[in-house]
Amino acid sequence: SAAEKGGYDYFMLKEIAEQPKAVADTLLGRIDPSGSLTLDEVRISPPELREVDKVVIVACGTAFHAGLIAKYAIEHFTRIPCEVELASEFRYRDPILDGRSLVIAISQSGETMDTLMALRHAREQGSKVLAICNTNGSTIPRESDAVLYTHAGPEVAVASTKAFLTQLVACYLVALYLGQVRGTKWGDEIQAAIKDLSRISEDVERVLETMEPVRALARTLATKNTVLFLGRHVGYPVALEGALKLKELAYMHAEGFAAGELKHGPIALIEEDVPVVVVVPSPRGRSVLHDKIVSNIQEIRARGARTIAIAEEGDEAVVPYADHLIRVPVTPTLLQPLVATVPLQVFACELATARGNEVDQPRNLAKSVTVE
Ligand code: AGP
Repeated sequence: SAAEKGGYDYFMLKEIAEQPKAVADTLLGRIDPSGSLTLDEVRISPPELREVDKVVIVACGTAFHAGLIAKYAIEHFTRIPCEVELASEFRYRDPILDGRSLVIAISQSGETMDTLMALRHAREQGSKVLAICNTNGSTIPRESDAVLYTHAGPEVAVASTKAFLTQLVACYLVALYLGQVRGTKWGDEIQAAIKDLSRISEDVERVLETMEPVRALARTLATKNTVLFLGRHVGYPVALEGALKLKELAYMHAEGFAAGELKHGPIALIEEDVPVVVVVPSPRGRSVLHDKIVSNIQEIRARGARTIAIAEEGDEAVVPYADHLIRVPVTPTLLQPLVATVPLQVFACELATARGNEVDQPRNLAKSVTVE
C-alpha cells in the first residue's frame, strides 16, 4: 500500500531515501566514546583474529560487489590477503581453506542458498565464518561463528540499495576492527578512518538532494539499447553495481568494465552516442588513477560515446570531456562508493520507470534466491 511505501511510488525509492539513516544505524553503538570500535557481536576472539592469515569473502549479486570493495579496505587496514569470490563458484573449485582463514559471508536476506552452501563448505574446512547480514535470525547468521548485522531495516524492493550501502559500512567496520585488533595500522589512522565513516551519512544525504538532473538524464536514455559503466579501483565494483541495477530494473544491456581494460577489448563497443557512465576517482591522493580515467573519458568521447561522469565536487579536469556531469561530495578514496553508487541507483530506477517496468518486482527475479 501507499502507506507502507511512506508516500513514495515504489519501495525502491523509499529505500534509496532511507540510506543516510541506514548507514548511520549500521554504525550506531559500534564506535565507543574514545573513537575506537567495539564489535562485541564479533564473537571471534582477538587472539583468533590475530592468527588469521587469509580473508575470503563470499557473496552473490550486489552483496558480491560490496565484497569486491571490502577487499580494498581489508587489505589496506590489515595487510592480510583477501580474496572475493562468487558464492556459487566457491566450493566447486576446492578452495584452499584452513583454521586460519576467516570467511566473510555477505547477504542481505541471510537465506541465499549459494552463500549458505559456501559458508557450510568453509566451516567444514575448519575456517571461521563471519556473516554480514541484514536479516535477524536468518539461516546464514545462524550457521556462522559470528554475525555483524547491518541494521538497514527491511528491504522490500528486489533491487538492493540500502542493504548495499550498509554492507559497505559493515565491511569497513570489519576492516578497521581487524586492523585495530591486529595493530596493523597506527591507532591514529584507524581513528581518523572511523571518524570519516561516521560523517559519511551526511554525504549520502547531500547526494540525494541533487538527484533531479540524474532523473532527467535517465529519461532521455529510455530508448537506448545499452549502457556501459567504467571505473577503476573501488570505482570498478561501483561500475559493476551500476550495470547490475540497470539490467535487473531497466532490462537493458549494461556492462561494467575496469577502465584500464578498455583498450584490451571493450573499446570496440564504443560507437556514436553510446552512453558510458564513468566513475571518476578523486583527483586528490591517488591522482594517477584520476589522470588515467580522464584520458579514458577522452578516448571514448573521441569515438563518439556520450560520456556521463560521476565526479567529486571541485574536480575540474573532467569538465571538458563530460557530456553530463554528476557531482558527488568529496570523500576519502575508500569511501567514495558510498556516494558514487547512489546516482546509479536513482538512474536505474528512473530508467525502469520511463520504460514502463515494474520497479519493485522486476521480471524473473526473486528477492532472495533460496535455490542453488
Ligand atoms: C540485487 O539488486 C539483487 N537483487 C541480487 O543480486 C542480490 O544482491 C543477491 O541475490 C544476493 O542476495 P542476498 O544479499 O540476500 O544474499
